[in-house]
Amino acid sequence: MRYGKQYMKDISPKTRLLAWSYAHVAKPVFFTLDPELIHNQMLNVGNLLGRTTPTRWDTRALFDYENPVLEQTIAGLNFRNPIGLAAGFDKNAKIVNILPSVGFGFAEIGSITKNSYQGNSGKRLTRLAKSNAIVVNYGLANDGVEAIAKRLESAKLRIPFGTSIAPTNSPQTGTLAAAVEDCQKSYDRLKNVGAYTTLNLSCPNTVCNQPFMQADWLETLLKTVNTIPTKKPIFLKLSPDYSFDHIDKLLKIAEKYHVTGIICTNVTKPRNNPKILDRNVPASGGISGKVVEELSNKLIWHIRQKFNDRFIIVGCGGVFTAEDAYRKIKLGATLIQLITGMIYQGPQTIGAINAGLVQLLEKDGFDSIDQAIGIGHN
Ligand SMILES: Cc1cc2nc3c(=O)[nH]c(=O)nc-3n(C[C@H](O)[C@H](O)[C@H](O)COP(=O)(O)O)c2cc1C
Repeated sequence: MRYGKQYMKDISPKTRLLAWSYAHVAKPVFFTLDPELIHNQMLNVGNLLGRTTPTRWDTRALFDYENPVLEQTIAGLNFRNPIGLAAGFDKNAKIVNILPSVGFGFAEIGSITKNSYQGNSGKRLTRLAKSNAIVVNYGLANDGVEAIAKRLESAKLRIPFGTSIAPTNSPQTGTLAAAVEDCQKSYDRLKNVGAYTTLNLSCPNTVCNQPFMQADWLETLLKTVNTIPTKKPIFLKLSPDYSFDHIDKLLKIAEKYHVTGIICTNVTKPRNNPKILDRNVPASGGISGKVVEELSNKLIWHIRQKFNDRFIIVGCGGVFTAEDAYRKIKLGATLIQLITGMIYQGPQTIGAINAGLVQLLEKDGFDSIDQAIGIGHN
């Protein structure tokens, strides 16, 4: 494992054993099988483990890590640690009962669209093993807002759960009016479900191609959803593939509306990224993991410099270790999200990152995360 050394150094013997077992037993098997099949199997296992109190407790005993140093209250929500599950792993709210036991401080469900959609055809997940990345081409596959809202309403949500909303992936949402109406309906259905809402502006694998990354479309969307009364904070999830000038224009619009934070970032599209070390990268789909990490980090720092603390920044992209998470915090992130690091290293990664963060904060003489946010990192 290229990122293994630091990771193994930070962690307890129990977590080290789990990491070893994942790397030498589970992963070699998983990585010979189709990634989408394994993803679905993991959701089935997570769903089963979440059903009973003893299985939740056992999972917690294996994976969870707690330390008050990691606690934060943000926009009125209590986060017991800053590490969240990014949108796309639990699209349909199937494993909400087990995620707290795995050690997450929060999690984002979706992306959710008004209508259910089976997703793009063909291979939708491809591992880029040398690059520590995944090519994602689901195209917003999900069960639709009504089914997912019902599932969330019937669950006991033990940590803050965000609901990530995107326009239904269909040529019928190709006009501004139709796309906004589609998102508005999902937003309205979810206005009292979960702890925060993310407007996913940046799914790269859809027929309409990130329309809300355009200033006039974003303004109409924000104006519309801001008419719906809700206490839930709103986050915007950005693409890493636009110039800083373009992002500034979007955020100058966002500043005028009820927008609490920015998620930096979604997956990246260009295939000439020097972090791609694999050959035969599929032509379609966005790339996660170490390929997007630096783009995400640069955008976090830029937004922090340009907009100071107007927006809470959620750092997302290529977080595998406590060092990776801490770098994002020092660049300006208050919260962190991940998926790919967990897929490459196993579920104990979450507790290991949290334990490692406590050590890194202590080493720098900080009593809490907020003292490290935005102090800068080379
Ligand atoms: C399997 C998979 C599915 C994803 N689906 C979504 C999605 O539906 N909505 C979304 O906003 N981001 C989605 N993403 C992007 C992630 O939320 C995240 O922004 C990106 O993968 C970078 O984080 P990571 O490097 O830790 O994976 C997906 C990523 C992966 C790996």
